[in-house]
Amino acid sequence: MNVPIATPPLTVRPLSPVMGAEAIGVDLSRPLDEATFQAIHRAFLDASVLVLRDQRLTPEQHVAFSKRFGPLSIHVKDEFLYPGIPEILILSNRKHPDGRPMGFEDAGRYWHTDMSYVEEPPLGSLLHAVEIPPVGGDTIFCNMYLAYDALPDAMKARIASLRGVHSFVASFEGKTKAGASRGTLTDEQKKKLTDAVHPMVRTHPETGRKALYVNPGFTYKVEGMGEAEGLALLEELFAHSTQDRFLYRHVWQPHDLVFWDNRCAMHHATTYEPRYIRHMQRTTVKGDRPV
Ligand SMILES: [Fe+2]
Repeated sequence: MNVPIATPPLTVRPLSPVMGAEAIGVDLSRPLDEATFQAIHRAFLDASVLVLRDQRLTPEQHVAFSKRFGPLSIHVKDEFLYPGIPEILILSNRKHPDGRPMGFEDAGRYWHTDMSYVEEPPLGSLLHAVEIPPVGGDTIFCNMYLAYDALPDAMKARIASLRGVHSFVASFEGKTKAGASRGTLTDEQKKKLTDAVHPMVRTHPETGRKALYVNPGFTYKVEGMGEAEGLALLEELFAHSTQDRFLYRHVWQPHDLVFWDNRCAMHHATTYEPRYIRHMQRTTVKGDRPV
């Protein structure tokens, strides 16, 4: 008979007035009872960014916890997947002994939601800080519920039925606003990637709240709109949504596991001195088609 291991009561502490909360009193390397899992899930939905501190997780434990939220997706950049555990994507400046990069080195240094360029973008991502620099390499999050709520009524009406076009290939080729260096894609990888078209305002499937759903990383045009007009509208929405009043800056601690909600939050990695190692491992939970 399986005897459930008692989990201490979970305490949730807000990290900022904008978004983000810290869940204290949980050790994900041990079996997790259903009540504690539900409390974690609730805290995640409420905060959009949930931080679980000091989680000494093996890749297998990271994957097992992530799967409680749904099936996981496997990233197209297959050279950066954890050996033998393809559900884990490595974001790192560490090199293999032969000099090849072990992971995405400068991943996400632009505003984006993960993989909005697919038909059913991920629900969320769980990023585990295996090794972090003493300073720098923070992640900034943006609350897209608040960004939507704060739009003038005329803008809400203008974008209510518009759809944005999202592309990973365009972002690699510098066609999106961010244009950061992201390495190269092989023809095989490009073949797997097509544009995705999503409503610019989406309703969160679990909270029922409306959120703005365009991002500078991958949204590069507006369906049915001329290029200049579409870009001008997108630029206006990007500038609006990235105001300080909608942001929470996460300063990582070693072994943080941070779970963010891609459906209502953007994020942006920041730089750090390359003499330090920043080694992170990510799982990505599949999500629904935005509506
Ligand atoms: Fe990201």
